Amino acid sequence: MAVRFLFDGEAVELASPDPTGTLLETLRGPLRRTGTKEGCAEGDCGACTVLVGEAQGERVQWRAVNACILFLPMVHGKAVMTVESLSAKGRLNPLQACMAVNGSSQCGFCTPGFVMSLHGRAIGALGSELPVADAIAGNLCRCTGYGPILEAGEAVSSLAQDDGAVAAGLAGLAGDAMASGVFEGRQWFVPRSSDELVEVLAEHPEARIVAGATDLGLWVTKGLRDLDCLVFIGDVADLKAIEETPEGVRIGAGVRYAEAHGALARLHPDLGELVRRIGGLQVRSSATVCGNIANGSPIGDGPPALIALGAELTLRSASGRRTIPLEDYFLDYGKQDRRAGEFVESVFVPRPSAGTLVHISKLSRRFDSDISAVLGAFALTVEAEAITAARIAFGGMAATPRRAAGCEAALVGQPFSEATIAAAAEALKGDFNPLSDVRGTAAYRIEAAAALLWRLWHRAQGTAVSVLDMEPC
Ligand SMILES: Cc1cc2nc3c(=O)[nH]c(=O)nc-3n(C[C@H](O)[C@H](O)[C@H](O)COP(=O)(O)OP(=O)(O)OC[C@H]3O[C@@H](n4cnc5c(N)ncnc54)[C@H](O)[C@@H]3O)c2cc1C
Ligand code: FES
Ligand code: FES
Repeated sequence: MAVRFLFDGEAVELASPDPTGTLLETLRGPLRRTGTKEGCAEGDCGACTVLVGEAQGERVQWRAVNACILFLPMVHGKAVMTVESLSAKGRLNPLQACMAVNGSSQCGFCTPGFVMSLHGRAIGALGSELPVADAIAGNLCRCTGYGPILEAGEAVSSLAQDDGAVAAGLAGLAGDAMASGVFEGRQWFVPRSSDELVEVLAEHPEARIVAGATDLGLWVTKGLRDLDCLVFIGDVADLKAIEETPEGVRIGAGVRYAEAHGALARLHPDLGELVRRIGGLQVRSSATVCGNIANGSPIGDGPPALIALGAELTLRSASGRRTIPLEDYFLDYGKQDRRAGEFVESVFVPRPSAGTLVHISKLSRRFDSDISAVLGAFALTVEAEAITAARIAFGGMAATPRRAAGCEAALVGQPFSEATIAAAAEALKGDFNPLSDVRGTAAYRIEAAAALLWRLWHRAQGTAVSVLDMEPC
């Protein structure tokens, strides 16, 4: 058993590695690429940012990722670029040179991560259409104050990249399917189709599914958990589809947030804004939309937004497929409606009708790369000035993402008026009994949830101050 990937034009092979070891450990250890740093080992600081390239037809699609939470076998058959790759001939590349003369680096610990994020943007990596500030929202610096880093990113915002040799190298590795097997006593399965995935899970219902590993990686690096049977779905070709139709968008289980961003933003601009605020670009370039659902977190951002829009989840196993309303998937804290041997195959999000008012608001301590204290998502259908349907869901208010039944009941059948919103805001206070934690007290959460409903009202009246949610909690 071996993991093989392309590294500066050469195929590198690591025999029998621990499948839950990280790419960062391999880079800094056996490969001696110590330019890539470890700051937090949990995907927050970006000091470990590297680029991973995959063949897409004849071209190479690069994406910036946090090497600290990427399990090593996830790069099998792919290309890896580190900060050293940029100055391989002993000369700084234009971006590095610009950062050096512009005072964009002081102690230097964060610098390789920033360079890789900005280099990725300059060569057209996933998400490179976003502003420079978004490209580095997943990188933290304690010294420079960001201004000189942003300036360097603006000054060198496009760099030519000849991927011919990488594409040829990847083609050479393409037939080299890694056999599923046992590494260091841990089983690692790599199905290539969803039919194969069904078979693996039927035989090993105890196997833990790995998608982007932005949650699972932390189970290992921070939770020190021993994961002994894993099935990686990132190479399952038929789970990578995004289908956009007049009815809505279907997102396969292998689709990452950064890949789904455009389709979700076209469905509704609030969804696009929400995706911008899920982790940093490195997290979104690994994290899948379905992984965000499957993990069942009460503070995951995707689920409440998609519940309000009426999303449906398709699950599949050897017994066949079943489709359920997304809200029914979340049974209790840490408990989801997923049977043994079953996996989430896709989520379908209906397109809101012309008469539906959609408002999605995330409240967190920081605008960028932060976990929600409260997330409110509203879809109100208003016909002839009366509310004919209401779907309202919250994250951060209960043990699961949940609809606000009392609030919805206070809205439906009523005129769309200030008095109705006031009554619904009052009813909303009885819908939840939230916890107090570091992100907000129970009292704050109750008040904030009602305030988000008022924000929908003010937005509809054109009296909202801002739809950006940056208030401290
Ligand atoms: C620094 C950082 C910032 C973050 N910021 C945010 C944020 O702002 N908002 C937010 O919502 N989340 C955030 N997250 C959490 C995480 O990125 C998301 O939950 C992500 O979408 C998980 O997707 P994944 O593909 O990485 O899942 P994985 O880590 O691969 O898997 C997560 C869980 O889901 C299961 N699973 C995955 N796919 C399937 C499937 N198809 N069928 C059945 N089970 C499956 C896995 O077995 C595992 O239990 C952040 C994480 C990090 C590290
Ligand atoms: S070390 Fe901080 S994100 Fe990887
Ligand atoms: S230069 Fe010191 S942390 Fe960024």
